[in-house]
Amino acid sequence: MSTIILGIESSCDDTSASIIKNDTILSNVIAGQSVHEEYGGVVPELASRAHQQNIIPVVFKALKDAGITAEDVNALAFTRGPGLLGSLLVGTSFAKGFALARNIPLIEIDHLQAHVLAHFIQEPDSRKKTPEFPFLSLLVSGGNSQIILVRNHLDMEIIGQTIDDAAGEAFDKCAKTIGLPYPGGPLIDKYAQQGDANAFTFNKPKIPGLNYSFSGLKTSFLYFLRDQLKENPKFIDENIPSLCASLQKTIVEVLMGKLIRAAKETGIKEIALAGGVSANSGLRTAIEMEALKRGWQTYIPKLSYSTDNAAMIAITGYYKYLKGEFAGQDAVPYARNR
Ligand code: KG4
Repeated sequence: MSTIILGIESSCDDTSASIIKNDTILSNVIAGQSVHEEYGGVVPELASRAHQQNIIPVVFKALKDAGITAEDVNALAFTRGPGLLGSLLVGTSFAKGFALARNIPLIEIDHLQAHVLAHFIQEPDSRKKTPEFPFLSLLVSGGNSQIILVRNHLDMEIIGQTIDDAAGEAFDKCAKTIGLPYPGGPLIDKYAQQGDANAFTFNKPKIPGLNYSFSGLKTSFLYFLRDQLKENPKFIDENIPSLCASLQKTIVEVLMGKLIRAAKETGIKEIALAGGVSANSGLRTAIEMEALKRGWQTYIPKLSYSTDNAAMIAITGYYKYLKGEFAGQDAVPYARNR
């Protein structure tokens, strides 16, 4: 028997709805929010309002694209957290209303767990190889940098994480200091292709164990620019590509250093990337190089499943559905990691 799940994602600034049938995707609709561009970051109040506007049309489109109606949906999975509270409330309230009206199970999803499970989304026309358990997931996004030991779909342990900024935040904040618009990560990646990655060096954090820290790197970048600008007021304009390349190289080296250590300590060679920063070309190349050197089997998500999307919510919902892990109508969103 097949199970149809409607996934709803509204944790930050993307409103998304997706339909999956068992582990196979039928539709994935994402409405971004351009309203934040002029502010250089996501404005929570504006995000909530835009979700409120987008959620019904996005769900209708997801149902239409999948060629089904609301009556065909067997369960509803929604992001309960972490994220912006006002944004999460929109998705949560919609999910509760839908599940109540249709009298179907409600499934609460942790956004980070969903990023990790994005690798299990199958396309209708071909089945791809999925990570074998146990595997390590390097989850790098605008809000998180974690190394997660994944024992099975629903059993995960965070074995390393950032103690301050996330990797995506480091990309975005450093991009801002050189005048690039938000989100700066993709632009740094783009300029880095034309620059010299060895042109400049920045201090790397010295944090024990498997944890990360990126706030020191951001400060090192800022002080370096301040000193250079004293000598040459046009320093930034004349060096954008090499600044981007050198910064990207440093962030990637920091991320890879702890990942290699985690792989050595656990003896695990199944390595998966997750989160928005997994789109970074430097990180993708670095992980493939290490894979060749160390005999890792690596899994890099499709771009549309690495940034925020509801397909990953729906697939996680499917595994929870199989276990009968349902939420009550009293489920309340949570803003921070749990
Ligand atoms: O997972 P995500 O879409 O959103 C959340 O953080 O929830 O990740 C967004 C982050 C942003 O910080 C963005 O700058 C970063 O991912 N990012 C990149 C690239 N593409 C997106 N960072 C570096 N290189 C990229 N190509």
